[in-house]
Amino acid sequence: MMQAEPLVTLDIASWQPDVAPKASRSLAQALENGKVLCLPRLAFDLSESEQRLLTVDSLDGKRKNITVKDGRLNGFSGDDATASTMKAMLDRYEGNALDLVTRLFPGYRSRMRRAPASFRPRAIDNEPISWRKDDSRLHVDAFPSRPNHGERILRVFTNVNPRGVPRVWRVGEPFEAAATRFLPAIARPFPGSGALLHALGITKSTRSEYDHIMLRMHDGMKADAEFQKNSPQHEVRLAPGTTWICYSDQVLHAVMSGQFMMEQTFHLPVDAQYFPELSPLKTLERLRGRALIG
Ligand code: SIN
Ligand code: FE
Repeated sequence: MMQAEPLVTLDIASWQPDVAPKASRSLAQALENGKVLCLPRLAFDLSESEQRLLTVDSLDGKRKNITVKDGRLNGFSGDDATASTMKAMLDRYEGNALDLVTRLFPGYRSRMRRAPASFRPRAIDNEPISWRKDDSRLHVDAFPSRPNHGERILRVFTNVNPRGVPRVWRVGEPFEAAATRFLPAIARPFPGSGALLHALGITKSTRSEYDHIMLRMHDGMKADAEFQKNSPQHEVRLAPGTTWICYSDQVLHAVMSGQFMMEQTFHLPVDAQYFPELSPLKTLERLRGRALIG
């Protein structure tokens, strides 16, 4: 089954583009409406020493990603020289991603919180893992231990594969269609359960009803083989040298293949959006007919 084209392609080749206010608004409308902004000419160029990082050798054990937080590498194993190249590469990507998003969307600038940049060197294989962790199944991002109370998850990705290998995604139906499909079967959380999970240390803050619903949607989609196969979806092939931006808490996505990617996440309050009513929180509240946080 087909649906409206999920990508909006932008002819931007700089991490510091000049964007007119009117263009920002219309791009924000597309992004906040659940489109994937695709920049096929925006590469993240690697120096010669950085190109030598394009192996899985620097991964620590079974880790999937290498990240840098507060000046320290996570998921990395290797010598000091490699560590400093890795760190510099991640810092540079973070700076580029921040420049890009704040140039495209100046309205977000003062409201964004940055997560650690990540380098994802593993090939996407089809090794069986638990269905809940299987990102080759369509899903919206929602994390059991990290309730976010509606705060947005905005992600910038760049394919840095040196051998022409695309990152292949599937992008599913619009968020509201999926919410309409899955909401009826999602019961209210048990009273007090959100606070209890926090008291037990299972979650880092109280799990709101919003978080409860988003987790149930994430799990419900991944567990539903019929939905995975037959719901409206597009395959998108993101070539090396391509950068793409989407709200991963809203865009139904699945990664099918590829290797070597940079990723930067930003968190943003709903009221910092150009069109807050397009957020998953406001969409779910409208469909449920009541407030889902607080
Ligand atoms: C995901 O966010 O589900 C995976 C994206 C990717 O690795 O390309
Ligand atoms: Fe995901």
